[in-house]
Amino acid sequence: MPPSASHASKPILIGIIGLGTVGTGVARVLTEHPERLARRAGRRLELRRAVVRDLGKPRGIELPPGTVTDQVSAVIDDPEIDIAVHLVGGIHPAREILLDLLKGGKDVVTANKALLCECGEELFTTARDLGRTIAFEAAVAGGIPIIATVAQSLAANQITSISAILNGTSNYILTQMARENWDYAQALHQAQQLGFAEADPTLDVDGSDAAQKLILLTWLAFGVRAQLADVHRQGIDRLDLSDLRFAGELGYTIKLLAVARLVNQQIELHVQPTLVRRQTPLAQIHGPFNAIGLVGDVVGETWYSGPGAGQMPTASAVVADLIDTVAGRTRINFERLELWRSPAPFSLQPREKIESRFYLRFQVLDRPHVLADIADILGRNQISIASVIQHEPPESLTGSSSANTVPLIIMTHRTTEGQLREAERELARLNAITPPHVRMPVAG
Ligand SMILES: NC(=O)c1ccc[n+]([C@@H]2O[C@H](COP(=O)([O-])OP(=O)(O)OC[C@H]3O[C@@H](n4cnc5c(N)ncnc54)[C@H](OP(=O)(O)O)[C@@H]3O)[C@@H](O)[C@H]2O)c1
Repeated sequence: MPPSASHASKPILIGIIGLGTVGTGVARVLTEHPERLARRAGRRLELRRAVVRDLGKPRGIELPPGTVTDQVSAVIDDPEIDIAVHLVGGIHPAREILLDLLKGGKDVVTANKALLCECGEELFTTARDLGRTIAFEAAVAGGIPIIATVAQSLAANQITSISAILNGTSNYILTQMARENWDYAQALHQAQQLGFAEADPTLDVDGSDAAQKLILLTWLAFGVRAQLADVHRQGIDRLDLSDLRFAGELGYTIKLLAVARLVNQQIELHVQPTLVRRQTPLAQIHGPFNAIGLVGDVVGETWYSGPGAGQMPTASAVVADLIDTVAGRTRINFERLELWRSPAPFSLQPREKIESRFYLRFQVLDRPHVLADIADILGRNQISIASVIQHEPPESLTGSSSANTVPLIIMTHRTTEGQLREAERELARLNAITPPHVRMPVAG
């Protein structure tokens, strides 16, 4: 059918559940660009219903009378609505709503990464069993089309490595700490004032949000379904400004890096503050942006960056999913995603086998032989030292430690987490070290 004729056919009716930040953005794109969307989808897209909790809240968008309702059943039970855009956060009742939408015969587009991470198997399997689809481009890295890239554009490849900045809030805070010489609390406060961090920023700054997105990417790229507890996770919330300074002296910056790597048929998986060499692409990602480096066995190394959240970037991804669903691409792809692989083709690498170079900072008594004692313990655990920095105590540390201790920074050559942990057990017995010490991996 020629496109002009198909535009004239009956429109596809859409119901949005959740007219908050993202939902309002989606409604805006649907109402402001109908011709463009119809051309690309092959059918007109018409917003029939938008469901909210509180009908009294101002929405900042004019929709035809009767569109906004507080009844989810107005979408679930309307047989004319073909596609539901699910933009309710959290797990409950988001899970139950999504299941009811599928049972009501709707194909679903969602941005809820927490829900897919926790209940993904149930939701995807239910969709498949009911002959429906779930599209979720907006669930990972907002406006960056990374799901389509992994699932379609790089389909010729076995992805071998994902290294990514997946949380814009953390990246904004780290950028401000490095640029302005601010401590964590000061940078967080500014991020909250500018709307880059929530009033309760816990899930962003403790690494959970990035881990949820990494789990979805890992599932799609490797066919391996990890749980949140499988991801070794550390946030930026305990990062000391002095470590950014020392990393800077060594030619690095610090990023909250999410890593999934195929090593000896196992998947290494972690989210943690990581030293990243200054000249590399990830080090150049400043402010609230996201970036993802993917290595494929056919294509080699590729990079993607852009806005990882926010109203319109996320709406861009949601509407692209809507167009794909209308055009039939989602149905073709959904059946063929790596997430259906069973049994999983790779196992998860035990944490003690993860290999890396490490940055270590100890607070040590300023007296002879301390460095020799530490070097001896590291050496006996087959950990060799690449470089050492020892300084007078910076002001930020003098309050928390006694005046006659100094920071000692050690960069190691490659070793395993297991070996390092063994060494740390012995180091903990040295009286000259004031616990706790700091340890971060070095990318690459
Ligand atoms: N914001 C972003 O930049 C971004 C980026 C990527 C992904 N996401 C994901 O997108 C989803 C939506 O995020 P958001 O920022 O748009 O959230 P939000 O601003 O809090 O909006 C949520 C909407 O859902 C409605 N809602 C909540 N519970 C409901 C229920 N039981 N029945 C009907 N409606 C209900 C709310 O109604 P009321 O308005 O009446 O309270 C609100 O309109 C989340 O899963 C989030 O993780 C967000």
